[in-house]
Amino acid sequence: STEKPTIYKGLVGVYADVSSISKVMPETNSLTYRGYAVQDLAENCSFEEVAYLLWEGELPNQQQLEAFKAETAAEREISPALHRVIKEFPADAHPMDTIRTAVSFMGLEDPETGDISDAAQRRKAKRLFAKIPTAIGAAYRASKGLEPLAPNPKHSFAENVFHLVQGRVPEPEVLKAFDVSMILYAEHTFNASTYTARLVTSTQADMHGAITAGIAALKGPLHGGANEAVMHMLKEIGDPAKAKDWLHGRFDHKALVMGFGHRVYKSGDSRVPTMTKYAEKMAEVVQDRTWMEISRILAAEMLEKKNIHPNLDFPAGPAYHLMGFEIPLFTPLFVASRITGWSAHVLEQGEDNRLIRPLSWYTGPEQRPVPPMASR
Ligand code: SDX
Repeated sequence: STEKPTIYKGLVGVYADVSSISKVMPETNSLTYRGYAVQDLAENCSFEEVAYLLWEGELPNQQQLEAFKAETAAEREISPALHRVIKEFPADAHPMDTIRTAVSFMGLEDPETGDISDAAQRRKAKRLFAKIPTAIGAAYRASKGLEPLAPNPKHSFAENVFHLVQGRVPEPEVLKAFDVSMILYAEHTFNASTYTARLVTSTQADMHGAITAGIAALKGPLHGGANEAVMHMLKEIGDPAKAKDWLHGRFDHKALVMGFGHRVYKSGDSRVPTMTKYAEKMAEVVQDRTWMEISRILAAEMLEKKNIHPNLDFPAGPAYHLMGFEIPLFTPLFVASRITGWSAHVLEQGEDNRLIRPLSWYTGPEQRPVPPMASR
């Protein structure tokens, strides 16, 4: 045809498929995983329960949960070969690049890499869920010249992450706040990285390929990378008294303010109140109100002057800082959570697959002959 069709730049407003994993309702500011409100899950469940829910479709009973925890805790070790590869990573590499590389390497070693049957894909998803924190911890510690710590199968998911990265298991309220962040980050319909993972899966490529691609997509500051950018911004501002002026300077340059805005939510991200509550608790634990105070001023001013609300990355950034994580680890922590949602979508895509292959409307030159070299 010659008439230019409607182009949905950024696929805005396009329903690309059906999904039974999560539902986002911007009108009511709500998000459900398999029918359960995220706030309800965050307050009443562990991250392990939510991981099980995303994969299996139902919450586990006590016995199923214990079996799931035992099965995944037993898979936490990474291979000696991967430990050696991690030691070769440049010390200044970004942890998102190192976890992307580590996950790709896990694909080389996984006994079922090329098997895309549902059963094999599920086992690989659980192995990735189990091993990703170990690889994040090993790469982080290697970058500091430290030896990796061995995962302890008795640790919960949250305890395991703190132990492997920070070498400590913090107090229960810190573990709870971390678990809440994992639950809120776990799944969010067809966001860019999840759609990337589904697209890779649609070619009948395997789980590790899809997750490697998902990590690559998540790194960008318009997506998961925003939680790191938020903390850089808060540090740059440094003082609540300077927050308003700093923000007005951004307005003058029409610059983006990280951690604000969302493609789907236009009147507030459903996950923000819960995460903010737990970030506030972390400020109490650490006795450092600076970051939440700057955040409060920025959020109020963004709403008043621009009518733009914060997204989940806005409270998650300072929460992770207050939990003692270094900034470049924030988006890898998002990976440690979103592996659940990504892989649930990989499984769903595989159940009723059709190759994802949209069209492009051509705007280049009309057809023309190749000129001989001498006349170019
Ligand atoms: C995540 O999709 C998901 O679900 C993602 C996520 C998940 O769980 O997977 O929720 C996780 O990625 C959260 C988003 C993190 N990104 C940021 O915080 C980066 C800053 N935010 C933006 O760049 C932006 O809001 C996006 C990328 C999040 C959304 O982009 P859209 O949907 O394309 O919206 P837009 O850029 O067209 O914005 C609409 C208007 C524009 O103004 P006008 O041109 O209409 O005048 O709002 C303005 C924008 O300039 N605007 C902002 C802004 N966000 C939007 N202005 C200043 N600062 C901002 N952050």
